[in-house]
Amino acid sequence: MRVLVTGGAGFIGSHVVDKCLEAGYYVAVVDDLSTGKLENLPKEVPFYRVDVVDADGVNKVFAQVRPTSVIHMAAQISVSRSVRDPVRDARVNVLGLLNVLEASVRHHVGSFVFASSGGVLYGDVHEPASEDRPLVPVSPYGISKLTGENYLRFYANEYGMRCLALRYGNVYGPRQDPFGEAGVVAIFMQRLLSGREPIINGDGKYVRDYVFVEDVARANLLALNSKCEGFRAYNIGAGRGTDVNELERAIRSALQKVLGADGKQVDLPLPKHGPPRPGDLRSSILDCSRARMELGWVAVVSLEEGLRRTAAWFVSHRKLLASTGAL
Ligand SMILES: NC(=O)c1ccc[n+]([C@@H]2O[C@H](COP(=O)([O-])OP(=O)(O)OC[C@H]3O[C@@H](n4cnc5c(N)ncnc54)[C@H](O)[C@@H]3O)[C@@H](O)[C@H]2O)c1
Repeated sequence: MRVLVTGGAGFIGSHVVDKCLEAGYYVAVVDDLSTGKLENLPKEVPFYRVDVVDADGVNKVFAQVRPTSVIHMAAQISVSRSVRDPVRDARVNVLGLLNVLEASVRHHVGSFVFASSGGVLYGDVHEPASEDRPLVPVSPYGISKLTGENYLRFYANEYGMRCLALRYGNVYGPRQDPFGEAGVVAIFMQRLLSGREPIINGDGKYVRDYVFVEDVARANLLALNSKCEGFRAYNIGAGRGTDVNELERAIRSALQKVLGADGKQVDLPLPKHGPPRPGDLRSSILDCSRARMELGWVAVVSLEEGLRRTAAWFVSHRKLLASTGAL
C-alpha cells in the first residue's frame, strides 16, 4: 500500500505516519508546516512542503508519490479562528480538500480517509451520540467538516472511490501543541510543568469524550483496509464522558506519578476557575459501536494510561518546550 498523509507533520497525522511505517506501508507526507513540525516525522519519510490550497502543487505530489490511499488530515483546526475568518477556514477545509479529492480521482486512489469531528457535528449531547444523530454544526469549522463529508459522499458515488470520514472525539497525547486554544490536556500539562495554575473555564462541568492519539491512528489504518463500499462515517472516541474538573485531577495525578517516580515529593499549582467560554457545549460523547462492529476498532488505551504516557512525553520534552518558549 502507498499512503499519502496530508497534514502528516501535525499531531494526529504524525502518529498515523508512525503506524503506517509499523505496518510496512510506503508513506509520504504533504504539509505546509503552518502548525505541523518536521521533528514529528522520521527522517526517512518523503516530505513535500505544499499548501493543499495549491492545486498544481498537490497534483505534482500525487504524480511523484502515486498513492493508492490517502489520509486527509490537513486542515484549519481552530473553531474560534473559523468564526473570525470563515473564508480562510473554507479555503483550506473545503477547497483544499477538493484539490486532494480531485487529485485522488485523477490518480485512481482506492480509499480516502478524512479527519472529521464528532465534537462539532452533533451539538450538545448528554448520552453517547451515534452517527445517525442529526448533524447540527454551529461554527464555520463544523460547517466545513460537514461539507467535507458531503463531498466525500459525492466522490464515492460518482467515482467509486471508497471514502470514510472518521469523526473524532477530543484527541490527546504526545506531540499535541500546548499553544492551541483547544487540546486542554496539552495546555494543562504545559502550564503545570511551567509552575502556572491551569485555568478551568466556568464551573468545569464541560463533558468531552477524550481519546488517545494512538487509538485514533490505529482507527485510520483499519479504515484504510476496510471493506466498506461508497461513503461511510464512523465515530472515534472512548464512548465515555469526562468533565474538565475530573480531567484536571487526572492530569495532575499522571504528572505527579511521572515526576515523583524516584520518590521525590512533587507540588504542582492548584487550578483556578476563569469565566465560562461563550458558546462551549456542555456535553459531547460519542457512541462508537459502528466502528467496533464494522472496523473492528475500539479505544484500548484508558484515560489513566493515556495521560501517563502523555505526561511522560511532556516531562521528557521539557527542555525542548522550554527552548521554544512553551515552558
Ligand atoms: N485534535 C483533535 O482533537 C481533533 C478532533 C477532531 C478532528 N480533528 C481533525 O484532525 C486533523 C488533524 O488535527 P491535529 O489535531 O493533528 O492538528 P494539527 O494542527 O497538529 O495538524 C494539522 C496539520 O495540517 C497541516 N496543515 C494545515 N493547513 C494546511 C494546508 N493548507 N496545507 C497543508 N497542510 C496544512 C498543519 O501544518 C498540521 O501539520 C484535522 O483535520 C482536525 O480538524 C482533530
